[in-house]
Amino acid sequence: MTELRPAKAGEVDIWFEAIVRNMDRLRQWLPWANLEFQRDDIGRYLAEREKDNAERIALTAGIWCGEELCGAIGLHRIDQQNRSTSIGYWLESSREGQGLMTGAVRTMVTEGFQNFGLHRIEIRCATGNQKSCAIPRRLGFVEEGILREAERLGDRWVDLRVFSMLEGDWDGTSTGLPGDCKSFPLRT
Ligand SMILES: CC(C)(COP(=O)(O)OP(=O)(O)OC[C@H]1O[C@@H](n2cnc3c(N)ncnc32)[C@H](O)[C@@H]1OP(=O)(O)O)[C@@H](O)C(=O)NCCC(=O)NCCS
Repeated sequence: MTELRPAKAGEVDIWFEAIVRNMDRLRQWLPWANLEFQRDDIGRYLAEREKDNAERIALTAGIWCGEELCGAIGLHRIDQQNRSTSIGYWLESSREGQGLMTGAVRTMVTEGFQNFGLHRIEIRCATGNQKSCAIPRRLGFVEEGILREAERLGDRWVDLRVFSMLEGDWDGTSTGLPGDCKSFPLRT
């Protein structure tokens, strides 16, 4: 059974091991993932995210396949004035290609609009990150344009593609795939 579970400070070991296992892939696209990454970093990160989750100013969740952590997804800090935020995510390599992340994004977008009062949700992906760009496209997000050299990844600058979904345009269904595009329960 796959489900999203809000991140907990006590999960340091399992998050750290998953991130280290996938580091070569993650550091190509995620600015926080680098070779200096330590267990203490994930300890601090999880403690902060648990606090944010409790205050409902953000929502970070692990994607769990049974008792295996197979990735993570988050609604970043919410801009309360404009009722907007963005989503970030990563997946364990052995879990790619099954629609897991598309389903997890679908769950988080629905949660954001229904239970966090959001009006707008963005996804920003490096232009070269085809797998990541495919996710908002698959879910019917609108591509708004490119932010030039907007992110520093290691020693290079990358352009970011900006995708958005508005509250009034979200029906929670997949637009790009035949058959069902799963969404997953979010444990609260
Ligand atoms: C970005 C990332 C999460 C994408 O993973 P992914 O496996 O391609 O995404 P999904 O889990 O949604 O799976 C989609 C794939 O499963 C297939 N699929 C199978 N069943 C599916 C279903 N029911 N629904 C949707 N897709 C399905 C899709 O066709 C697609 O495969 P394709 O790329 O061969 O066309 C992953 O590559 C990753 O973690 N990358 C490193 C970190 C990263 O880049 N994060 C994002 C920074 S912006």
